[in-house]
Amino acid sequence: MMANEKIEHTPPSAPLSRGELLAGTGNDRVGIKQRIVTCVLVPVMVLALVLAVFGAYLLAPLKGEVRGYYWNEFTPFSLAHGQSIDVGGEDYNILLLTDFHYPLSGAKTDALIKTMVEENNPDLIVLVGDQVFSPFNHFSYRHLINLFDSFKVPWAPVFGNHDEEGKADKQYLANMLEESEYCMFQYGPRITGAGNYFINLTNGADIIYTLFFLDSFSSFWESGYRPYTADQVSWLKWAASGIAAEAGKKVPSVVYGHIPVPEFTPAFNEAFASGTVIHGQQLEPNGHSNINNGLFAAIKDIGAEYMFCGHEHVNDFMVEYQGVKLAYVLSGGVGGYGNILGGTMFTVKPDASTTVVNKPY
Ligand SMILES: [Fe+2]
Repeated sequence: MMANEKIEHTPPSAPLSRGELLAGTGNDRVGIKQRIVTCVLVPVMVLALVLAVFGAYLLAPLKGEVRGYYWNEFTPFSLAHGQSIDVGGEDYNILLLTDFHYPLSGAKTDALIKTMVEENNPDLIVLVGDQVFSPFNHFSYRHLINLFDSFKVPWAPVFGNHDEEGKADKQYLANMLEESEYCMFQYGPRITGAGNYFINLTNGADIIYTLFFLDSFSSFWESGYRPYTADQVSWLKWAASGIAAEAGKKVPSVVYGHIPVPEFTPAFNEAFASGTVIHGQQLEPNGHSNINNGLFAAIKDIGAEYMFCGHEHVNDFMVEYQGVKLAYVLSGGVGGYGNILGGTMFTVKPDASTTVVNKPY
């Protein structure tokens, strides 16, 4: 070093405070902010986006097409408004099942249904509503359709109150059923609901017996259960009188509908008091509407012999009331409440006489 060379000293910087040490330098602070954005905000935003898309999917309703035929009570009747099955001169065995409430205990319900179908070898399977009870009812209906089509036996459902209480509306489910290979569901007339239809059992040109199917409605209604509507009642009378005109006689018939008519209650009470209950018991109140639009009166009028319902899982009685047998089908849903499980076999013989046997499992 030269003697007179001046040495420049950089003044020592002031020591950093504890807060500055923790927060880092200005450059460090920018880096930390970027890391917060990258590690926290981006994943939160991605998660929010995923939830928004999933929520939109959950909430977006699936709406089906309104199909069926235009109808009013002046519409000329034709047998082509319904379907027919030629049963020949044999007993015709109809296995009635109800209230599966898929997807609840779905595997166990599948097993029960398979057992009942295999052991009873039915000619037709009728499902009396509440097949599913799910926010994703279209998935549960796909499962149901695949299961029943796998039996390669005709099957014919009505809707209960729960079927439409999900993402898919009743029309969407109806469209799915219409596209199934073995399902005889028909959209029917363009009246309230979907799936009011009939099937005639015939022997050649002779109409032996008629099966009527009536829609029930969602639980979400103004007060209690929604009643069968006046237009359903008018359509039932129109169809029965048209069939009678074609057959040249009043044809005996059965009505299937998920929710019982209000007459189920006095019917059971009277039969119980007089010791004339045909079979079964009432272990819970009959869940019918408080409003009566005259369906039972129409059932009597047309000469129907039975009304079969589902809806109550632990009622399995049959009683006769004013000449009509009112009955519950045994519930087949393992996931529902109650422990009375099984189905009901309804047989129509060639002379149009009938038998009803409950089949507990
Ligand atoms: Fe129900």
